Amino acid sequence: MAKQRAQWSGHLGFILAAAGSAIGLGNLWKFPYITFENNGGAFVLVYLAAITVVGVPIMVAEVLLGRKSQRNAVGAFRVLAQGKPGGRAWLGVGFLGVMTGFIILSYYCVIAGWTLRYILMAVSGELGDLAYHPEALESFFGGFLGNPLEQILYHCVFMGATVGVVFFGVGKGIERAAKILMPVLFAILVVLVVYSISTPGFRQAMAFLFRPNFHELTTGSVLEALGHSFFTLSLGMGAMLTYGSYMRKRDSIPRAAVTICALDTLIAIMACVIMFSIIFSFDFEVTKSSSILFTTLPVVFFKLPGGHVISALFYLLVSFAALSSTISLLEVVSSYAIDEFGWARRRATLTMGAAILAFGVLSAISLGGHAALSNINLIGRPSTAGVFGTLDYLASNWFLPVGGLLIALFTGWILTRDECRQELEEGHGPMGWAYPAWRFLIKFAAPAAVGAIIVSVILGAEYQ
Ligand code: PFF
Repeated sequence: MAKQRAQWSGHLGFILAAAGSAIGLGNLWKFPYITFENNGGAFVLVYLAAITVVGVPIMVAEVLLGRKSQRNAVGAFRVLAQGKPGGRAWLGVGFLGVMTGFIILSYYCVIAGWTLRYILMAVSGELGDLAYHPEALESFFGGFLGNPLEQILYHCVFMGATVGVVFFGVGKGIERAAKILMPVLFAILVVLVVYSISTPGFRQAMAFLFRPNFHELTTGSVLEALGHSFFTLSLGMGAMLTYGSYMRKRDSIPRAAVTICALDTLIAIMACVIMFSIIFSFDFEVTKSSSILFTTLPVVFFKLPGGHVISALFYLLVSFAALSSTISLLEVVSSYAIDEFGWARRRATLTMGAAILAFGVLSAISLGGHAALSNINLIGRPSTAGVFGTLDYLASNWFLPVGGLLIALFTGWILTRDECRQELEEGHGPMGWAYPAWRFLIKFAAPAAVGAIIVSVILGAEYQ
């Protein structure tokens, strides 16, 4: 390889970019609503356990594979599996990752686009007018989803912003964007948390989140917490592997992995504190939890003083978080084309961006009742209807856990103890007890937990 691989400028650059990938719609949109559906408390505890037992070890493994191989998701397995059991078959894990990145980005960008519409509405005052009549807001939202031109427009704008960042590369594009987006995002969150402490619902929100009631915990909740830990940490599809391939050898992988997981968890919990404090401040019935972000929150925002500013800041926050995630999804696909086809970065980002944009149009127009596209239901459950529902179901419930399982097996059973140890201790120093602990988790605990998700998805699918 003649050309030297790009690198993050330092430890902080990597941490901010990787935390940017992890923190996204998964934290601000999905985690609050699944926590709500699973009755808080005990679910939050199980989620924390899943992050510790499965998330952290697999995060370490993915970054390790990237930094050791200095390649994209497919190239990493080509280099590392050479001469090992399974050989080239492991490349399949990389291909699965690139395909998953392509798929997730195609529909993730559609939802991210909605936040742009909401920022505009918050600023123009339109959101305030609608929010005084919850039915009007619901019908606006339904109409918005059903308007293919608008859906495609915001999808294009968001994809344009994503390509615009990745086009400029690792240092000048991704790292620079992360260094702006992440501090702003954190500052907005802190402002909103401080604000939520002053709301009457704050105490109830804290009790809901932190007082576990184990009677309410079902096997389904445990599996949902486990499954979500992949999506929220961007694991199982080579995003952390790709970002890890730009990491300097003198930086510590274990320290970075723990920091990224901690930041992701902190932000998810902060998002819950904000949303539940506001929701519990009013006697407000949440009818459809998955649309809390777009139909419930605006109504409550405008019951509070300063609703305009709070709502505009909030949707800005969500769009920033989404952008720092979409750039990592595009980077997985682009770096594959750059390394494997020898494409220039500009060509890779524009071509892949255009292909994903075109594919995403199917999701964009399937939401609003485009008859053929929204009636597709290969899986046969209500939540998997339409192109959007099908892709999200396949990616989150199948591709990420299967990818994560294979990454754990490859790192734990195919790479040797010494190969892993050497890479992890480089830039970190002797790991002491932490090394055997990680090795145990990656060899046994993580595969067992992920295997349980996969088996449950299979059984669940049969009973529907
Ligand atoms: N972690 C992101 C979120 O929580 O919204 C989603 C995501 C980004 C998943 C990047 C996978 C990925 F590679």
